[in-house]
Amino acid sequence: MILTALPFGLRHSKDERRVFQQNQVPHSNSRISPFGFRILSARWALGTIAFLIATTFLVAPVFAAEVPTNVTNIFKPLSTPAQAIHEVSLLVLAICAGIFLVVGGLLAYTVVRFRWRPGDEGHEPPQIYGSNQLEFAWTVIPIVTVFVLFLATARTIYDVQGALPPADALNVTVIGHQWWWEIRYPELGIVTANEMHVPVGESSKRRPTFLKLESADVAHSFWVPQLAGKTDVIPNRENRMWIEPIEPGIYVGNCAEYCGMQHAHMLLRVIVHSPGDFEKWTAAQQQPPVDDPQARAGRDVFFTTSCINCHTIKGTKAMGTFGPDLTHLMSRETLGAGTVPNTAEKLRTWVRDPQTIKEGCNMPNMQLTDDELNQIVAYLLTLK
Ligand code: CUA
Repeated sequence: MILTALPFGLRHSKDERRVFQQNQVPHSNSRISPFGFRILSARWALGTIAFLIATTFLVAPVFAAEVPTNVTNIFKPLSTPAQAIHEVSLLVLAICAGIFLVVGGLLAYTVVRFRWRPGDEGHEPPQIYGSNQLEFAWTVIPIVTVFVLFLATARTIYDVQGALPPADALNVTVIGHQWWWEIRYPELGIVTANEMHVPVGESSKRRPTFLKLESADVAHSFWVPQLAGKTDVIPNRENRMWIEPIEPGIYVGNCAEYCGMQHAHMLLRVIVHSPGDFEKWTAAQQQPPVDDPQARAGRDVFFTTSCINCHTIKGTKAMGTFGPDLTHLMSRETLGAGTVPNTAEKLRTWVRDPQTIKEGCNMPNMQLTDDELNQIVAYLLTLK
């Protein structure tokens, strides 16, 4: 029976039809609502709607206030691969919406048109078995639909993943850590954290950024919704992707793969500069760290505690790679991968006990005295 049901739907033998008809249960006389089901109660429905409205308009802004200023909108792509993905997703959405309307419309029509009416007891609708036209239609239409979806998607995947870097592409290595992003520019000798600076692509001169994605610990996922799709960041594996932003600005992204306690505080900013501003940023980052005589005391404390085991300050004996590079710490906008703004006050709280800001992060409370704390913070504030 299963074999004959494919591909043209169910075909019943005469015996099966007889069994089927004998097994028909006559309608009981219980009351049902016109649509065959009962809404639990009007009060329940109103309560649910009120709850949804309240959570949307009252609670959502509370969370929104914590989020970095820029809204990330997957429907407003501003980079070549994101635009390609956006186009194919609109096509998929349109086709699925069409299917939904047809199926939902027919279903709603059937439910209303053929609902139970008084006097229906004992009557059966005409039983129809086997219709070649119908079965052919509902086999061929889905096959064609799936084929169109497959071709459009395969083409986009090929365009995005098969793109080769042009000779002057910017190469950046992104390393996911629990719970921050290390950003390395091997050709420029720059290392930073949680903020990726890239040049904007102009129609006269395209300059895409090609990313190599690596992980230092567990699986993460790199996602800046307006610039490109998600790409997994996996230990012992090198994944690649690229972005080509078409407008200067700040694009907010985040880790999109649950990676432990502070997964939600693994934010990322991509700062897109005009070509001239990008050159300026590059030149500033390539400068050695400032040596301010006023901050020497703090510097000495920094170099005599275990800070240097985890952090690098270029050109000094601090060469740790476990935590973020601090050479130009104060050029960055946030601390703790987007957890708090990078202000003097927050920096002091962070150095005294990072766990109060980002519980579970790998930087311990160093048990510094107030004097040591003040000196270290004074020194860090000079690292512009
Ligand atoms: Cu890294 Cu989630």
